[in-house]
Amino acid sequence: MQTIKDKYKDYFKGKKYNITTFGCQMNEHDSERISYILEDLGYEKTDDRDQADFILFNTCLVRENAELKLYGQVSSLKRLKKENPDKIISVSGCMMQTSTAREVIVNNHDEVDLIFGTKNINSLPDLIYKYLESGERVVDISSDDVKDDFVKYNNKNDFQAYVNIMRGCDNFCSYCIVPQSRGREESRRPSAILAECENLVKDGFKEITLLGQNVNSYGNKADFNMTFPQLLEKISQIPGLKRLRFTTSHPKDLSDELIEVMKNNDNICKFFHLPLQSGSSKVLKDMNRKYDQEKYIERAKKLKREIPELALSTDIIVGYPTETEEDFQETLKVCREVGFDQAYTFKYSPRPKTRAAKLEPIDETIVQDRFDRLLDTIYPIFNEKNKEYIGKTVEVLLESVSKNNPQVLTGRTDSFKLVHVKADKSLIGQFVKVKITDNTSFTISGDLVE
Ligand code: SAH
Ligand code: SF4
Ligand code: F3S
Repeated sequence: MQTIKDKYKDYFKGKKYNITTFGCQMNEHDSERISYILEDLGYEKTDDRDQADFILFNTCLVRENAELKLYGQVSSLKRLKKENPDKIISVSGCMMQTSTAREVIVNNHDEVDLIFGTKNINSLPDLIYKYLESGERVVDISSDDVKDDFVKYNNKNDFQAYVNIMRGCDNFCSYCIVPQSRGREESRRPSAILAECENLVKDGFKEITLLGQNVNSYGNKADFNMTFPQLLEKISQIPGLKRLRFTTSHPKDLSDELIEVMKNNDNICKFFHLPLQSGSSKVLKDMNRKYDQEKYIERAKKLKREIPELALSTDIIVGYPTETEEDFQETLKVCREVGFDQAYTFKYSPRPKTRAAKLEPIDETIVQDRFDRLLDTIYPIFNEKNKEYIGKTVEVLLESVSKNNPQVLTGRTDSFKLVHVKADKSLIGQFVKVKITDNTSFTISGDLVE
């Protein structure tokens, strides 16, 4: 009997796909999985969206601007779809996991043919067949993927890979929509994660980044016995793995055990992303973050004391509804006291159905003013931190050609510093030594040694 797969065997030949990814590394990694699935069907990748036969937007809704951008980009395809009805336009990701955002697409965007979620990526081929068979829009947000699935993906290159260790989030920070969209926290089994990492190293991957919304709570609710530090150490012991990173780590349960494991294993990168959100203990309480200023500073200082070469980065939200000028001053104080190497800074954005969305927002001009003052405070600190690298020789994994200068390559140090260096393209994917001669607040640069 002819299967549906046989029927469409030749359909995908010569057809092209294009994916636009919004949001965090979780979404980037999901797009890598989707890309693998589409190529397995027969699609080829194109960077030109207008040329693509399958156009996908993998969406984020953590802040309103990501959401608005998506609506704009989807609308711009209305004409293309009208002129080429055979093109398949698809939307996936976190926005589709919440009914409010999904309904906007379902009700106002006829040009969209296929909608799926973050938990049924493996069923994508079936959803495409269903659409081809019926010619009717398909909307499917089921959760068919097994959390321990051995997933295959197209990595962004052949030396760096992401590995999911858990999905979802149980923290319900008052401002955050992620627990609604990605669902409850579930940890993958250590055996599945280790097998995936071992295979990557066997395939020549040099750097692995472990992903989870709060890696420190790995295994907490599981029926197996393994903490995050134990898992991290096991992975770091895979022979041949050069660099191991992880994100994101919630300050409330950053353990001494994790600091020890980082300190004692050379291939665990000396970089820590520890989101502060606010420096005010009152605002932190309102945000439901479950730590206060004192605890944050204590954890950050302990990290730096135990691992002096460590670089520290953070996330900060400015203008949370209950934030006063005095609270904001506390955020500036923590920034000065801790001395971050880098920070992702956001203006608070109310998200539907979160607890904070019920609160009266602060006047936009006040928020903007605080935001500007925050940057004025932290950029000089970043600059100072980067200046400390001048004169030092660092090991850099070269990643790509610089966007601004084709003769310059960019890469990262173990401490995640972005490095610019003049070098030949053939060195991409290699470790090189760079003597640092210059810096900005965001980059360091220098010359190849040897
Ligand atoms: N799980 C990670 C964060 C994922 S979201 C953690 O807890 O650290 C990434 C960042 O987006 C958050 O750290 C926060 O700084 C920011 N963010 C989340 N919701 C936001 C909102 N409603 N408005 C502004 N920034 C927000
Ligand atoms: Fe959002 Fe908080 Fe979960 Fe991070 S820990 S994803 S900020 S709810
Ligand atoms: Fe990531 Fe955005 Fe979803 S930050 S988890 S893609 S809402």
